[in-house]
Amino acid sequence: MPIPNERPGRPARIGLPRRFHILTFGCQMNAYDSGRLGDLLRFEGWAEAAALEDADFIFLNTCSIREKAEKRVIARLRSILPLKKGKPSLVVGVGGCVAEQEGRALLGLFPQLDIVAGPRRISEIPSLLRPNSDRQFPVVLSGDAQEGGPGDVPGLPPVPPRVLRQTGPTAFLTIMEGCDNHCAYCVVPRLRGPERSRDPADVLREAAGLVARGAVEITLLGQNVNSYRPRGSDGMGPGIPFVRLIKAMASALDVRRLRFTTSHPRDFPPELTRLFAEESVLAPHVHLPLQSGSDRTLWAMGRGYSYKEYLAVLKGLREANEGIAVSTDIIVGFPGESEEDFDLTLKAMEEIRFDSAFCFRYSDRPGTRAQAMPWKVPEADKASRLQRLIALQKEIGAGINRGLLGTVQEVLVEGRGREPGQLSGRTGGNKIVNFQGPDRYLGDFASVRILRTGPVSLLGGLPGGREGA
Ligand code: 5AD
Ligand code: SF4
Repeated sequence: MPIPNERPGRPARIGLPRRFHILTFGCQMNAYDSGRLGDLLRFEGWAEAAALEDADFIFLNTCSIREKAEKRVIARLRSILPLKKGKPSLVVGVGGCVAEQEGRALLGLFPQLDIVAGPRRISEIPSLLRPNSDRQFPVVLSGDAQEGGPGDVPGLPPVPPRVLRQTGPTAFLTIMEGCDNHCAYCVVPRLRGPERSRDPADVLREAAGLVARGAVEITLLGQNVNSYRPRGSDGMGPGIPFVRLIKAMASALDVRRLRFTTSHPRDFPPELTRLFAEESVLAPHVHLPLQSGSDRTLWAMGRGYSYKEYLAVLKGLREANEGIAVSTDIIVGFPGESEEDFDLTLKAMEEIRFDSAFCFRYSDRPGTRAQAMPWKVPEADKASRLQRLIALQKEIGAGINRGLLGTVQEVLVEGRGREPGQLSGRTGGNKIVNFQGPDRYLGDFASVRILRTGPVSLLGGLPGGREGA
């Protein structure tokens, strides 16, 4: 139910023909949600507009994890709303995490905005866009839908396959949403709500559909994907539900690669670790956010593990699969982080040698525990720490990648590279490889010899072929 507006609404004027354009910011969960919204709109007779200017409905699916992400969204919105002047029937909506975070306040900032819908309300958007003379915009939807409630994860409503989005060789599949961890810096639990896992039969059905439509690789998604626990799973027999799901997918689907992200180090039992030895379909890569190498900071963040415990998980993974690639997230400048704490993070990076690391400056987020903490780190210190961290990771990444020189890697070709005639894809370890090759490899695997390496990507060639430009 739309929340009643205190201000007088304006009649919804939905243009014809009905074409939508979705802009996605933030994480892969948002990318998945945008795809799902597109399917639902196509089911209602909408078509996708390639250009913003041709759209009758523009939707920004947004991220507010850091202040910078939110500012980017606001700037984009500011540039889009003037399009309404030339096209009064244009409907503009903001969804996702900024919508949930700001809610009605967005209307104060942008009175011309028509729809504000938090991440748990996106599937209601198509019905708001149905021609209906009674409908009044703006509409604000946030929190959980009244029917369903927090225990319910709306799966993809059954739409006929003809309207489903094209699947490239790689596809995302959200299996759980929300987060129960409450890390002190993070807005996600408040914005996406408590953890809710989808029914395994629904997940398998959707995965089979993705494979049938051309997906070669599927990435299972969740804010805390490895704590997947569907309702009633306690009565489903022995074993960990997430492990059972991966095994079921590996045996039931004709999929060549499975990945999952993001994992919490606290939910990494040995049964899950062992899968990297047992299931060849599982790509040898894990994204395991460390956040800090200092126990003091980890404790203040409320991460629920010590550095030693993190190392134990990593050791198990490397024993299960020696060559497993590991990527991470690190925050510098969390409130109270001293130079000594930061040094421990640098030491951890040297000891672990991550294949890649996403490094962030701590950003104060509204309503988080960290926002209320004293001892904020000055911006200049955060900037200097970030710079040192990135420089170190660059060196480590370059060293690891040099070790791949001359090896042959199985690359799933996802598209074209930047140079003419170049293709681009990823190894099982999630490394980007560019190489010269014929188009017939698009969407397929190629055995590529690594000829040159950098800190982030690799340059290769087909055996017997020319080197990539
Ligand atoms: N400030 C900086 N980085 C953050 N992250 C989450 N919240 C914040 C914040 N307030 C980072 C974490 C997380 C990644 C997705 O974003 O490292 O793992
Ligand atoms: Fe951004 Fe987090 Fe929301 Fe994803 S869940 S869009 S990362 S704030």
